[in-house]
Amino acid sequence: MGTARESGLAARMLAMRALVGALAATGDPMARVLGRRALADPYPAYERIRARGPVSKHVVGLHIAASHDAAKSILRDPRFQVEPAADHVGVDWNIRPDDERTLVHPMEQSILTMNPPRHTELRRLVAPWFSPKALRERRSHVERMVDERLDALPRGGPFDLVEDFAIRVPISVICALLGLSEAEHRRFVRWGTALTGTLDGMRTLTERRRVRAVVAEMTHYFGALLAQRARDPGDDLISALLQVEVAGRPLAARDIIGLVGLILVAGFDTTVNLIAGGTYALLRHPEQRRLFMDEPERATDAVNEVLRYETPVQFTLRVPREPVSLHGVDVPSNAMTVVLLAAANRDPEVFAQPHRFDITRPNSHEHLAFSAGIHYCLGAGLARVEAEVALCRLLQRFPRLTLAGSVRYRRTRNIRGPLVLPVHPRLAPVTKSGQGIRREP
Ligand code: HEM
Repeated sequence: MGTARESGLAARMLAMRALVGALAATGDPMARVLGRRALADPYPAYERIRARGPVSKHVVGLHIAASHDAAKSILRDPRFQVEPAADHVGVDWNIRPDDERTLVHPMEQSILTMNPPRHTELRRLVAPWFSPKALRERRSHVERMVDERLDALPRGGPFDLVEDFAIRVPISVICALLGLSEAEHRRFVRWGTALTGTLDGMRTLTERRRVRAVVAEMTHYFGALLAQRARDPGDDLISALLQVEVAGRPLAARDIIGLVGLILVAGFDTTVNLIAGGTYALLRHPEQRRLFMDEPERATDAVNEVLRYETPVQFTLRVPREPVSLHGVDVPSNAMTVVLLAAANRDPEVFAQPHRFDITRPNSHEHLAFSAGIHYCLGAGLARVEAEVALCRLLQRFPRLTLAGSVRYRRTRNIRGPLVLPVHPRLAPVTKSGQGIRREP
């Protein structure tokens, strides 16, 4: 602690925070998005950024894509790549000299931050687990888990939709996929929160130490699990990856840890926001909720509209490997480019009345909430199934669900969604046979 490197990093972080803070005070919309506190409603700032052009250059050295067309072209353009350990302020998590070699940060040392050909090679190994056929087989499992969670909700009284339902559904699904014990779900939530939080960029040395501790804990946990599964394989994804060979050699433990760690963290910290954000949007728009309940066949469109309207991952990063000219702006080689997925999803050029939540919108599927191009979310199909089943069954079971208190949003800028969503069933839960609807005493 207190090394010269740490002092240097602390000074850089302080300088960056001061610069962003000073710019935010002038009303600069991008500085406000990146500022000290996540904006309660970032969408007006996104509008102002897009008003400067589909692609704009920001004084802190970032390029920003805020229109649907610019965002989609960048994500699909092979000249734009992901950067290992991409981070706004250039602060990495590895503290000891050999950390990067001995530990695995699942968001920074996995396919999410790899480029072809390594990205292609590794993604191909896990893709079959997320194929349409695999999803069809998994659907009944998701339905059973959702019903179990609904059965476990407090009967007749208020509950927190996030903690008691929205978190538990994706955790159950991912634990089953990886063969993990759900009893440890609090530990997984803690890991997810610590790691996805760094998508905002690390701002303090304390945060950096916390992230390093989580990375070490996860590496050791999965390392031990791999050894156990090698001795006693199951029918889970981890056991399957241990059997895989690439060019005649087994997959390195580091690659397996990166992949399963990413699936664990990316698989629930986003989906919870889709389920909770979707519930919140439907509760605030009674006519849309009625339509959704009367015509459940609209579930796919409704989930697309939630993804567009309440985008869980607000932005991602890319760097061009050669100079690129886009919408009249020259983006130099290796210039960090922020792709504002959430701004693209409210672009009026593509979505009429973009700030309206409308599950009948004909082109809601054009959203970029799952990104595009070669990093298109691997779990998109699974997240859709979870959200469709969760939202349909929640409102079937509690047809008169209402908001029951103040909603609090997460404080992070990149991962966005309700943190606390107090709701009340208003009616006693409907039993599985559909019997027993009665007013609360
Ligand atoms: C609402 C839920 C979800 C959202 C909004 C979401 C969003 C995203 C986004 C935006 C990316 C790409 C980032 C980029 O282009 O830089 C991504 C990648 C990824 N997601 Fe998701 N995700 C969700 C659920 C899931 C689930 C359920 C899983 C797995 C069980 C998953 C696994 C992955 C993986 C492995 C990648 C990396 C793909 C690659 O780099 O090739 N995600 N996700």
